[in-house]
This record gives sequence, structure tokens and C-alpha cells, in this order.
Amino acid sequence: MAASTPAFTTTATGNPVASDEHSQTVGNGGPIALHDSYLIEKLAQFNRERVPERVVHAKGGGAFGVFTTTEDVSAFTRAGLFQRGVTTPMLARFSTVAGEHGSPDTWRDPRGFALKFYTQEGNYDLVGNNTPVFFIRDGIKFPDFIHSQKRLPGSNLRDNDMQWDFWSLSPESAHQVTWLMGDRGIPANWRHMDGFGSHTYQWINAAGERFWVKYHFETSQGVENLSADDAAQLAGSDADFHTRDLRDAIDRGEHPEWTLSVQVMAYADAADYRFNPFDLTKVWPHSDYPLIKVGTMRLDRNPENYFTQIEQAAFAPSNFVPGIAASPDKMLLARIFSYADAQRYRVGTNHAELPVNAPISPVHSYAKDGAMRFGFTDPDVPVYAPNSRGGAHADPARAAASPGWESDGELLRAAAKLHREDDDFGQAGTLVRDVMDDAARDRLVETLTGHVGAVKAADIRERAVAYWTSVDPGIGARVAAAIRPVAPIDAGDPATAAVPVA
Ligand code: HEM
Repeated sequence: MAASTPAFTTTATGNPVASDEHSQTVGNGGPIALHDSYLIEKLAQFNRERVPERVVHAKGGGAFGVFTTTEDVSAFTRAGLFQRGVTTPMLARFSTVAGEHGSPDTWRDPRGFALKFYTQEGNYDLVGNNTPVFFIRDGIKFPDFIHSQKRLPGSNLRDNDMQWDFWSLSPESAHQVTWLMGDRGIPANWRHMDGFGSHTYQWINAAGERFWVKYHFETSQGVENLSADDAAQLAGSDADFHTRDLRDAIDRGEHPEWTLSVQVMAYADAADYRFNPFDLTKVWPHSDYPLIKVGTMRLDRNPENYFTQIEQAAFAPSNFVPGIAASPDKMLLARIFSYADAQRYRVGTNHAELPVNAPISPVHSYAKDGAMRFGFTDPDVPVYAPNSRGGAHADPARAAASPGWESDGELLRAAAKLHREDDDFGQAGTLVRDVMDDAARDRLVETLTGHVGAVKAADIRERAVAYWTSVDPGIGARVAAAIRPVAPIDAGDPATAAVPVA
């Protein structure tokens, strides 16, 4: 808010300036003086206002809030933030995946559900989505997957052929694509969607016992979705519809809430569970592992500055706290490298020092220097480890990653071993047959008809129909009957125009 008596303008270094309207010229209409350093500061700073947008999840918004652990889950984790009665300040950022920074909030796409908990034991980041599964199960495919969802290199246009070419050649995508093409593919807003950690993580209790967990954040506002038509209309009339909705709700005092529950699997059960529990394309049916309530997340404070608090926010799946660790999920392991690396490039090597990213607990790190570093320790504190001069020392007993899991085998590049009921289409078929009702299946067929119908290449169309036949023969037959023969495609026909989708 502006002060009642406006301050005088200064340069970035606090020196008073004479004018914000006139550059310094030789005579009234004359050439501009190079030594008008204030003009140069303004123009140069303006040229540097942007950092690169996130390579994925570029469009988003967020808010601050608090997480309260209401239940006793200490039997499963010693993490301080998940002990009953503890409240932890936090930040949430929601996003679309494939759209660029200014793209519409209402395009069909998974939504990012990124959480940063500022705990007493350092930051804990849970970087999930609004879907419990994902398109692929090995991080080596991620860049190719994202390329297929973004734009053609020549025309810079989205392209349904690329999307279906990749998906139909990657049958492990079937479960997530069924979610995406179904009703939950376009949430009404961020407040009315659930969130998931998606991966399997490890929890470790005070006795050192290990468990496998999956996180579920259920919206207290109820799940609501947009129809494809309403979403398309909003994409044109209010590209920032979801950003605005969250901001306005918090300003009105309607603070959205989610209940966190976890599914907990005994450590030893993973070996012969009917599905590979570390395969991100699979869920654990609730009938096998029911939800166990943990606590409540409430968002109650809008950012005061979008760039500083949301654009520069750096969420990284590598940020764990004691009592929580990774699992052998290959996707998660790839992500553990990827995010901090992206943020060193996107925000800078010292991004963790920015107020939005800095922990509330003390930092005793031997990392030093680098661009824009401003934190430093007392000159008497050693800058190396080990040292005998009283510097910080590591405490393996508190380390988050211990005790890990057993892993021993030949170094190779291969798919994980299949569990009894592992196949690419099974859970997608269950979603279509057991979770969707007739009306939802009708809408799925309608969405697929538009989407697959916009594919131009005959072989890719055929593969897409075969893909849906593998998910469910009935859906496959209906899509085959509904899409028009491949040629000729009328480029001007809106029914066949490329549909943006992540
Ligand atoms: C953002 C990589 C899979 C959720 C990002 C960013 C990268 C990335 C580089 C941008 C980070 C930044 O600049 O701050 C990857 C890779 C993946 C992967 C390599 C696969 C191996 C996933 C999965 C999920 C997910 C499976 C969800 C379960 C997100 C979210 C963001 C994000 C929510 C935005 C975070 C924010 O709001 O700042 N991803 N990703 N990603 N990713 Fe992933």
C-alpha cells in the first residue's frame, strides 16, 4: 500500500533523482546524454526483469498457509511436521503443465500441486499433481514426453499428431491419459481439486522402522470440474481464471482447505504386492491400503509480490526432512536431480537464500559464494569439513535419507520386474468401467472424438484407436466409429483444429 506522504524517487542505490519523465538531453530536443545513468538504469533493469519461465508448469499461482497435524501418525514417521498438534507455515503453488507463462488456466492438462513446508528441520517440499499417476515411469522419457506436448519446432503450433504419436507408443501413459481426457482433466478451479504426492515415498519412525506411503490431499470444497465448452470459453474471456479465483477467495476470507491422508504399506509388502508399488503409472486401490488421516492444510494469505514470492519460488523433490525419504521409483529419483538443477539455472545458484525459499531453521552449510550470495558466517567459522575448529558437523542419526532400501544388482537399462497384475491398460480400464458412470463415459468419448479426430496421420489415428480399445473395447469402438475417415482433413474446420492439451 502506498504511504500517505509519497516518498521521493531514488535510483536503486538510493540517490535522489530529478525526473521520471524527462531524460537528460542536450537542449530541449537534443540527443540524450550517455551519462544519464538513471535513464540507463531504468532501461537496463527493465531488460532484465524476466527470469526464464519454468520449462514445465510455467503458468501458475499460489498462496501461503498453514498445515496442522491433527492425528497421531508417529507410528509411521518421526518427521517433526507430522507430529500431532504441530502447525507448520507453508506455501502452495498450482499450475498447468505444458502451457507457457501467459497461457490460459483452463486448458485441459494435469495441474501442479506443489507444497513447501517451512519446518523446524528445514524445508520439506512435496511437488505433486492433481492426479495420483503420471504418463511415464522412467525419467529418461520426460524431455521427449514434454516435447510432444509443447510446440512443433517449425510452426510453433501445438500438434495432436505429436501427442498421440507419443502416447500410443508409450502404453504406460494410458492410466494418466484416461484421467486427463475424463472430467477431472479440467478442474473448475484450484480450490475444488484434490492433490496427490503421486509417487511412493518412504516414512521412517523414531524406532527406525520403514514404511511406504502415498499422499492424498482431499479438497474440503468438494471436487468440481469445468465442461470442455466452458473451459474453452474461459480460455478466451479470462485466461487467468484460476489465478483470480484463488486470490479473490482468500481476499474474501474464504480460505480453502484440504485434508491430508496417507496410504501406508508395510516395508516388506512391496516385494510381492500385486502392482509394482514404485510404478508411478499405478495407484494402490484403497481397498488394499485405506486412507489414514494426518491433518489439514489451509491457505489464508495471498502473495504480496508475484515475482518475488511465486515466480522465484523453488520447489524441489530433493528437499526432505528426517523421517521422510525417497523410494526406488525411477521417476522420483530422476526428479531429485532435476529440480534443484533447473532452479540453479532459472533463478540462480543461491536461490535458496531468497526469502520465499529460505528455511526458518538455521542453515549450517559449507557451500559458499556464487552470484548474488549475501549470507555469510562469522569469519572465525571454518569453511571446510572436517575441521577441528568448532565448525558444524554432519549427524548421520538425523539424516533424512537413512536408512534407505536394499538394492543390489547388475548395472543395466531395463524395465522394472513386473508384479502379478502389472500391465499398462488394466487400471485405466478400471477407471473407465468402475469409476466413471455412463454420462462421464459419454463425455470421455466426446473429448476423445475431438482430440483423436484432429490427428492427421492415418497410422497415428489407428494406433490411438487401438490404444483406447486396449483400455476398454467399448470406448475404442465408439471412438473409431465417431472419428471421421482420415482424409481429407479440412484445416479450416474447427472440429479438426488442434486442441491444446498438455
Ligand atoms: C516443475 C522436471 C515429473 C510436478 C518441474 C520443473 C522441472 C521438472 C525441471 C521446473 C522446476 C523449476 O524451474 O522450478 C521434471 C522431471 C520429471 C517430472 C524431469 C520426471 C522425471 C513430475 C511429476 C510431477 C511433477 C511426476 C507430479 C507428480 C511438477 C510440478 C512443478 C514441476 C508441480 C511445478 C513446481 C512449481 O510450482 O514451481 N518439473 N518433472 N513433475 N513439476 Fe516436474
